[in-house]
This record gives sequence, structure tokens and C-alpha cells, in this order.
Amino acid sequence: MNNIKDEKQTIIRDYLPASLQPSSEPVQVFAPSNIALCKYWGKRNQSLNLPITDSLSISMGHLGTTTTIESSSDSNDHVYFDGQQLDLKTSLFANKIIDFVGLFRQSNGLPLTIQTTNNIPTAAGVASSASGFAALMLALNVYFNLRLEQSQLSCFARMGSGSASRSVFKGFVKWNKGVREDGMDSHGEQLSKHWPNLRIGLLIIDGEKKSVGSREGMARTIETSALYKSWPEQASQDLLRLEQAIATDDFNLLGEVAEHNAMSMHATMISSWPPLVYWLPESVESMHRIWDLRADGVNVFFTMDAGPNLKLIFETESEHIIKEGFPNLIIATPFD
Ligand code: DP6
Repeated sequence: MNNIKDEKQTIIRDYLPASLQPSSEPVQVFAPSNIALCKYWGKRNQSLNLPITDSLSISMGHLGTTTTIESSSDSNDHVYFDGQQLDLKTSLFANKIIDFVGLFRQSNGLPLTIQTTNNIPTAAGVASSASGFAALMLALNVYFNLRLEQSQLSCFARMGSGSASRSVFKGFVKWNKGVREDGMDSHGEQLSKHWPNLRIGLLIIDGEKKSVGSREGMARTIETSALYKSWPEQASQDLLRLEQAIATDDFNLLGEVAEHNAMSMHATMISSWPPLVYWLPESVESMHRIWDLRADGVNVFFTMDAGPNLKLIFETESEHIIKEGFPNLIIATPFD
């Protein structure tokens, strides 16, 4: 564990100012959650979260994480989640935050109070690590006056959680895998495209924490799934087709590629050993309802991550009919 921390700290150190200048005022920032249309599944470096493939996501508009950092009123760090103070002796979540902050605080003390809140219902089962580490990184940048570039913020957020590299930006974001060993060319990049009537709907099947997290799931897939061998090639083809769909405003192509990409990722998961089946019966039932809607001429597609919930992809013109079929959908407007 310490080696991992050292590896990250050695890389980050080169980008930090000679001395930190903590803000005298509290600093508050927001980062949106993101949903990948072409997935990140598999790492070339586990500790730095360097991916095997490029990926591409859409941000979730106002749905995400707000983080506030201020100097502590005593000599200890304090971490709050959704208004509740966490016990640093027992909370894994709080320790992840403190470890991450430690990469930037270096060794000179500066006790902090860090408060973080998510406005996506926890039950939505949408990974909060992406918006969480992005918000924390953006807040540290302002609080310590680090003056880091966007690409550097994305690289460092990635060290907390891979998908956080994309949550530093808004709208469509491409995460280039990079080739450098230190990963400093493996960061998100915001695409200039605006697609104002695009909508993402969160369909909650089960909000329970997933049994096998992404980190472990990716490692198991690479080690045991014969199908994974074809994944990098598929991901690179899908990414090109998504870029084409975005450039030509081709919604059907966007939806088709995103759905196919998610199903292909799940095929690699299912063919792992022991099998990684994140779907529940209701997930499959919802897929059929989406396919039925599509057969009836409604342009709706879905994507899924390492969990049972579906994320529906559609445009405003179909919103009314989709809400009739899925009344509890939480709808995000990525370009608001
Ligand atoms: C299926 O970013 O949560 O959602 O880098 O280990 O923290 P770590 O993994 P994480 O993985 C996300 C996987 C995914 C696909 C995606 O978001 O691209």
C-alpha cells in the first residue's frame, strides 16, 4: 500500500509549488458524475489506474458531488459525508479521502475539515467515486492554490479512481489512455460538442453496494476471461463510431454503439471465473422493455456499469413516452 502511495506522491511532487498557500476561506466545488458510452474496463497499471483502452463519457449535468475544504478548527482532520461526521478510525471512505489529500499536503501538517455531499440518491447505485475524487481534486487545487492545468487535475483525479479523470470536465469527455509510464498523458479531454436535447435516465433496480467492485472485477476479467482478448479492439472501434455519431448528430448511432459497448463489456464479465454477473432479473426485464419500446419506434437505448442499474439514453422528444414506461427514472440533462 505504501509503495502505491509513494509512486503517486513521487509523480505528483514534481507538479506542486515549492510551498503550499492554504486559503483562509472555505473552498467549495462541484463535479458532475459521468456515464461511459465507451467503457473503461481493464488497467495497464493498477496503482495509477492507467487504462488499457481509451473511453468516452457523458457528464450528468447537475448530478454529482459537492466538496468543501477548510482549515480545521483543531489539530485533527475531520471528514463529513452528507452532513454526518465519519470516524477516521473505522471509515474506509474517510481514510481514502485523507490518503488522497496526503498526496498533496505532503508532510507539513495543515489539518483540514472536508465535507462532501452527493445529490444523486445513494440508491441510484451510480459510482460516486468519479465525481467524488474529481470534486476533491478540484477543491484541493483551489484551496492550496496549486494552479494545476486541467489535464494535470484529470491525471491526479484518476489516481483516486479511473473514471474520476472524466468527471473533471463537463459534457462529452474522452479519456485518452496514454502511453507514458507515469501516466501524465492519460487524462480526460472535453469535446466541444453540445447536444442540448440529450438525456440520461437513471433506472434504479437495486441501490445496494455491488458485491465485486470495479477494481477487483477488472482484474478478474483480465485474468480469466478469454473474451477479454477481443475487448481492446472492440473498444477502439466503438470509440471511433461514437466520435462519428457525435460529429454528425446521429443519435441512433450513438445509442446503438453505447448499448453494444456495454453489452460487450458485460459479456467479458460474465465469461470470467468465477462469473461476474452484475445483472438481476429486473435488469434483464428492463432491457426487454427498452427493446420493445424501440420495436415500437421509440428511440431509446441503455448502458450499464458494474451493477444491476440501467442508464437510459434518449432525446427530449421521447422523454414523455419513456417516463410513462419508467415513472421513477431520475433524468439528467448533461448540457444544462
Ligand atoms: C464499469 O473508475 O470505478 O463504470 O479506477 O478502479 O476506481 P477504479 O474503477 P472505476 O471503474 C469504472 C468502470 C465502469 C466503466 C466506466 O466508467 O468507464
